[in-house]
Amino acid sequence: MPTQSLFPTLIHTARLADKDWAAFNRQLLSECHQLAHDDLAGQRWSAKNYPGGYTSYNSVCRMQQMSPTFAALERKLNRHVASYARALALDLEGRQLAMTDCWVNIMPQLVVHGLHLHPLSTISGTYYVQTPKGCSAIKFEDPRLDRFMAAPPRRSDCKPEQRPWFIVPAEAGKLVLFESWLRHEVAPNPVKTERISISFNYNWF
Ligand code: NI
Repeated sequence: MPTQSLFPTLIHTARLADKDWAAFNRQLLSECHQLAHDDLAGQRWSAKNYPGGYTSYNSVCRMQQMSPTFAALERKLNRHVASYARALALDLEGRQLAMTDCWVNIMPQLVVHGLHLHPLSTISGTYYVQTPKGCSAIKFEDPRLDRFMAAPPRRSDCKPEQRPWFIVPAEAGKLVLFESWLRHEVAPNPVKTERISISFNYNWF
């Protein structure tokens, strides 16, 4: 092959390895609502930093240590993270990738999650708990975008991996994993029903 594809960005999407994921999600959903109701510090932080929505990112960010249900989610996610780390060919030098943070995000209508990355982390991801029809997707951005100043645009029929962005629909029971340095955003939720997700970080120690 005279032309090679180099420096890939790998994203892992999968359904949670759980036959009874719908019942599992009902339990998660109930705990997400309860947390949003009880977490006064999170409500205050969200009012300032996540207008109209609720996130426990800055208040209760280790849900896997607070709730057996979230601890079960961690165990279910571990095998996906291990498989993704293998696909990335990460040499962990015998160390473990472990979940360091796990938090809840509730996005009512028009709430937005601007472009960001997840600092001080190796692999990040999101698991979808409630995704009403038409709710916003997660959008990943080509990390080399700032180097493309004078580059011609790509044809609209180019391959997905040649586009400067990639969208993964939010779907309850599914998860998406990405390397923590990859910038992403969630557009304003256009539908009335809340879009509810659980985000997490894994790090190697
Ligand atoms: Ni994020």
